[in-house]
Amino acid sequence: MSEQNEHFYVTTPIYYVNDQPHIGHAYTTILADVLARYHRLLGVPTHFLTGTDEHGQKVQQAATQRGVSPKDHVDTYVTRFTDLWQHLCVTNDDFIRTTEPRHTKIVQQVLTDLYNRDEIYRAEYDGWYCVTCERFYTEKDLADGLCPEPGCHKPVERITETNYFFRMSKYQDWLIQYIEEHPAFIQPDFRRNETLGFLRKPLTDLCISRPKTRMSWGIELPFDHDFVTYVWFDALLNYVSAIGYGVDDALFRKWWPASMQLIGKDILTTHTVYWPTMLHAMGVPLPETVFAHGWWLIGRDKMSKSAGNVVNPMALAENYGVDAFRYFLMAEMVLGQDASFTEEGFVRRYNADLANDLGNLLSRVVRMTLSHFDGRVPPCGELATEELQLRDVTLEAVAGMRDAVGRMRIDQGLGGLAGAVREANRYLELRQPWTLAKQGPEARVLMGTTLYCAAETLRMVSGMLYPVMPAKMAALRGALGCADGEPDYSRLRHWGELASGTALQPAGPLFPRIQPAAKQDPAAKGAVGAPKSASKPKKPGKEVPVSTVEGIVSYDTFSQLDLRVARILSAEPVEGADKLLCLQVDTGGDSRQIVAGIAKSYEPAVLVGKHVVIVANLAPARIRGVTSQGMLLAADAGDQLRLVTVECGAEPGARVR
Ligand code: MSP
Repeated sequence: MSEQNEHFYVTTPIYYVNDQPHIGHAYTTILADVLARYHRLLGVPTHFLTGTDEHGQKVQQAATQRGVSPKDHVDTYVTRFTDLWQHLCVTNDDFIRTTEPRHTKIVQQVLTDLYNRDEIYRAEYDGWYCVTCERFYTEKDLADGLCPEPGCHKPVERITETNYFFRMSKYQDWLIQYIEEHPAFIQPDFRRNETLGFLRKPLTDLCISRPKTRMSWGIELPFDHDFVTYVWFDALLNYVSAIGYGVDDALFRKWWPASMQLIGKDILTTHTVYWPTMLHAMGVPLPETVFAHGWWLIGRDKMSKSAGNVVNPMALAENYGVDAFRYFLMAEMVLGQDASFTEEGFVRRYNADLANDLGNLLSRVVRMTLSHFDGRVPPCGELATEELQLRDVTLEAVAGMRDAVGRMRIDQGLGGLAGAVREANRYLELRQPWTLAKQGPEARVLMGTTLYCAAETLRMVSGMLYPVMPAKMAALRGALGCADGEPDYSRLRHWGELASGTALQPAGPLFPRIQPAAKQDPAAKGAVGAPKSASKPKKPGKEVPVSTVEGIVSYDTFSQLDLRVARILSAEPVEGADKLLCLQVDTGGDSRQIVAGIAKSYEPAVLVGKHVVIVANLAPARIRGVTSQGMLLAADAGDQLRLVTVECGAEPGARVR
């Protein structure tokens, strides 16, 4: 991190809009936010971009399943990301969606330019296609005849079709040389070696189109209306389309080249092979650094829907506080390496660093100053060895944090700041200011000096922690009487800036201690908020809702469902859909139409008169062109479905709870 840098432009990958946001998404975005906030603190002009990747086959399929248009689908789902970033205090300057005209227009402009300059050509292609990864592979690429992508390994389809190709192969030698001459381009170093290893094999040209006959939800090729753009070629361009590439030169030159493009290790090839060759062909310089971080494992396991251990960041932040969650993620992961998430580990670190050390230091300083110095920061006397030691440790921690941000070792920087807080608590133990109060005027001067020094450490450390825990550090600094709002590095790096006489404010507990969980059931595999609720840690005096793992919902969420008794008035088949029946049901006050996939399980006639349970407040959907205003509840019974019915006495419209 350097003050001489003219700008700091940081990006995250744009997330698949279909995905349920998880701890991995939250991590990258919070990391980008922390980097952006540190640069702003240093006074470096900063721009922070995140967004969503909204085209492709999976979006098209999900929209079809929901019976809505792909555009309606992405418009609904994008809010899961925008809401989460707001909740997590993420200060992105821009949020780009690949369906926005400002993006699609630039993608088409780049395609036209590359096509006109013969960087893109049309050819017949014969290869193996993985629907899940939306990628082609050669015979050699396959792993035992299956998709070679780690974590996929699904069957592939043989496809012969005409497509458009970007002449990526011709840039292979140039790229190798560029990477070798610019060690900062791919970080950490071992990831650079991984890309160089990949480039030892001949590079093929990149298929950048998909025929509309197979997949139409994408940006149309401007030179062939039968095709849409391959989702990665489209998505990567977000990093430049968002900052005015091709339309606002001054803006583009203000931010490009990007300073730091954050990615997860799984998308290294797209960002360090496809992306640089695309930029080179466009005549645009490469980003300064593409940084690939590791993965969050849950305990020792990979996080996945099928393992049921997907950590929901919204729930965690709700349970333990946004800032504590941000702090944990930043302190725990060594950038580049994988890290392990367990609720036990989270609680351990929270209690040690935040409740016992930082929170405790603040309450000691405020309490004693309020009761012995009228709530005003006392004057600082002469600094003896003990005070000088605390001062030096604090100054080193502040400089260390600044340096750690530049080296992408946020964990180390935070370790140094936690060390300074520990040192201040040790210093208080040594000086015992609480015993000095009644020992005469000289002791009182020493007591004042002691409280001043501890408060000064707090002022400096809290300023450097501000980018990680903005709300809590604002509260801490408010209690210390720091009126500078957002801290300013030029005032943080000097000892002695805290003015004697400043009025302190009474502070409630900043980080209440969390009762550690009882030993976890091994079946819970260390997952956060696993359903074995008996062992959940609890906030003091407050039940912690158990809802940090995807799939577990709070009572509040459950109670949003309006389940009602309904009487079936009529049932008839839906034309052209042999599994569907169209039902008219009486819901008490009114009647409505519900399309249900129960035709293989029930003859229409036997349904009439049944009292069933419906989800009454489900958004209406079009199923095979027929509107459905709700859903019936049914249980699996082999290959049949059995409707959930209620005993007589419960009238249509009765609430089910
Ligand atoms: N849409 C593409 C990116 C296009 S950028 C031009 C994509 N999206 S994603 O939603 O699947 O993934 C986004 C990021 O989340 C990736 O960087 C990926 O590495 C990261 N993570 C997914 N699971 C993760 C963990 N368990 N831990 C940390 N990050 C993880 O790929």
